[in-house]
Amino acid sequence: MTGTVVSPNPGVARQTWICTARLRLRPLCADDLSDLVELYADPEVMRGSSGVAVARDRAASEEWLRQALAIPTIGGWMTYRVEDRATGAFFGRCGLRPEAGSEKTELAYAFAQHAWWRRIATEASIAVVRNGFAAGLGRIVGCALAKNVASLRVLEKVGMRRVSEEPTSVGPLSTMKWTRPITTGLMKS
Ligand SMILES: CC(C)(COP(=O)(O)OP(=O)(O)OC[C@H]1O[C@@H](n2cnc3c(N)ncnc32)[C@H](O)[C@@H]1OP(=O)(O)O)[C@@H](O)C(=O)NCCC(=O)NCCS
Repeated sequence: MTGTVVSPNPGVARQTWICTARLRLRPLCADDLSDLVELYADPEVMRGSSGVAVARDRAASEEWLRQALAIPTIGGWMTYRVEDRATGAFFGRCGLRPEAGSEKTELAYAFAQHAWWRRIATEASIAVVRNGFAAGLGRIVGCALAKNVASLRVLEKVGMRRVSEEPTSVGPLSTMKWTRPITTGLMKS
């Protein structure tokens, strides 16, 4: 279910929220900084990152948020705060963004440990991908380190398939990439 509400982000009149059975996804805004600082300060959360795989301090999280909010919200690109639909409690972030160095759209997410193993990442990702295709995207990719079994499983459950594996600058690890043509149906969770 999707809906529109007045955004708490000044300068953006209305934004799309997404609701699922258990979750509410709303576009990230400056008010989310403290939750993101806590999320990114956890080395276990950052360990699976295919980018900078170390815990971030407040300044680094602030910079991450600044860059996320600077991405134009066109063609389905949007990063959401994922929260408990009933209580508003913060679970993590999930969204679509341009993949670094390419014109592809990437599904990206990170969740706090208290949200792990509850299929929250899967539920949020399916909603975000569906929204992206509804917004007109033709193809969405997901990247995860080969060791990040949970993330690869989330991508698989969204409906993506492995298309390549390549070395990355993050040590001797591989990156798995998955892609899904728009004509393929989403897998049931
Ligand atoms: C990766 C991440 C999003 C997965 O979240 P999660 O809450 O475990 O995901 P879900 O509960 O939706 O589970 C997805 C699937 O992975 C499986 N899974 C979860 N953790 C696993 C693990 N450590 N090993 C193997 N399988 C795992 C689940 O069983 C589930 O599969 P199933 O439905 O077939 O049983 C979460 O661990 C996270 O945010 N990590 C830190 C940030 C990160 O790594 N982001 C991704 C960067 S590419």
